[in-house]
Order: sequence, then structure tokens, then C-alpha cells
Amino acid sequence: MVGFSQTGAESSWRVAHSKSIQEEADKRRLQLLFADGQNVHNNQVNAVNGFITKGVDIIVIAPQESLGWKPTLKEAKRAGIPVVLTSRGVDADEDLYETVLVADFVWEGRQAGDWLAKQTNGSARIIELVGTPAADVATMRKAGFAEAIAKHPDMKIIASQSGDFTRTKGKAVMETLLSAHKGEINAVYAHNDDMALGAIQAIEAAGLKPGKDILVVSIDAVKPAFEAMIEGKLNATVECNPMHGPLLFDTIEKIARGEKVPKRTIVPGKVLESDQAAALIGSRPY
Ligand code: AHR
Repeated sequence: MVGFSQTGAESSWRVAHSKSIQEEADKRRLQLLFADGQNVHNNQVNAVNGFITKGVDIIVIAPQESLGWKPTLKEAKRAGIPVVLTSRGVDADEDLYETVLVADFVWEGRQAGDWLAKQTNGSARIIELVGTPAADVATMRKAGFAEAIAKHPDMKIIASQSGDFTRTKGKAVMETLLSAHKGEINAVYAHNDDMALGAIQAIEAAGLKPGKDILVVSIDAVKPAFEAMIEGKLNATVECNPMHGPLLFDTIEKIARGEKVPKRTIVPGKVLESDQAAALIGSRPY
């Protein structure tokens, strides 16, 4: 029996991640206890404590926040239940979990920054829409982007605010920032596609053309982002593959057989631009 504590359903990425894991469990005829944390850290902690009490064979956590996991992970270790992390990491000693399956978030931020530098010849006034601040993925995507644009003195982040990885908040934050910085902005860097799609709505509502008046680059490469790229409203997205199911269950089976697994497995991604979107959308699995 596998207990899976999922962050929530904040983005298209997250929905695809849950689906991939649930489908793979079904395919392998494994019992999966799915707990939706609804984007509340304590819900996830309570769910994992419940899995420990139940005596599941393995615990999978996709943590909303990176802090606050140590006591629960120590409890799982004391109970002899291995823990696997997927999609984000935690701030805890590595011996408290078996492995973490994630993308290289700093690399993703760097790719977005390099892409924007190339498109603007190193001159941009940027709004950054940050993910959930307590998540390692947001800190790392911010750091990678900052590192890339630091090479270009004329690339400036005018405002940086959290949209919590959701389309609704991305739109609301963008509306506020656009009116606070009227005429100043020519680029948006969003830590995920959902916030970028919300920002695109806000840009259009302000009478501007997303993708032209304001360049938009984001991360994830979900299908709705491809649709926006085909319409010329989103310029580029850095792929972050959510299809962790097969890799996750291969890893779980190795752990069950007593095989050693690497502490960290990086799920690779690539930069995808609007002129590739029409040719690729049909083959996108999420
Ligand atoms: O942890 C991965 C991130 O979480 C995705 O990029 C984002 O869309 C999701 O909410």
C-alpha cells in the first residue's frame, strides 16, 4: 500500500502529475491512498501522519512547502516506512528520505532568463510572477533567472510578486502591477504557465498585446501554454515534465527489492518557443 500526499491541484502541471501517478499505480495494480493537501502544509503533514498510523508500505510526498517536515519524516523513519519525494524537495537531512524526483529548477529559471536576454538584446523591464514562496521550486526558479539576467545591466526586475502558481492569482497580481507600472513593462517572467496565462488575460484587459507589447516567458509547457503560443500570446516556456508516474513506481519497486537508488533524480526539460508550438501540440502528453 502506497500513501501519496499531493500538494493540491493549483495548476495544470499538478493535475497532470497526480494523473500520471494514479494511472501508473492502477497499471501496476498497486493500492494508492491519495491525499489532496489542498495547498495547505498542515493538511499534508496530517495526511502523512495518518499513513504512518495506518502502516502503509511506502510514503510518497509532493510537498507544498519545503520547511516543517523533519518531525514527520523522523516518525516515518522510526516506523520503518521509506519516504520518496516527488516534484519538490524538503529542507531536511537526506537520510530522512530515500530519494527525490525533481526538475533542475535553477536551470529552468536560467533558461527563461537567457531566452529573454536573447530576445531583447539584453534590455528588458520585467515583472516576475513568483510561485509559492515557501516552496524550493520558487526560490530556485527565482535564483536561476536572477543569475542569467545579472549578466545584462539593462535587464531589470521592476516588480516581483507571488501568484502562488495559480492562474487566478497570476491575473490579479498582474492587474495590480500593470496599473502600478503603467508603460514601464515590456516583459513578464512567470514561474509557471498558469500564472503566465492569468497575466496574459490581465495584459489584454489593459488593452495591450501579450507576446508583442509585453513578451511572456514561463515554465512547465502544459497544453494550454501551447495554445497560447499558437495564438502568439505566450512567447516561450521551459518544459518541466510532470509525468513522474513510471519513474516513481520503478523507484518504489527498486526500494522494495532493497536496491540502492540515487538520492536525487533530475527529470530533464527543454526550452520550447512559440514557432514550434503548432507542430508539437498534438504530441504533448499533458
Ligand atoms: O513543483 C512543480 C511546480 O508546481 C510546477 O511548475 C507548478 O506549475 C506547480 O504548481
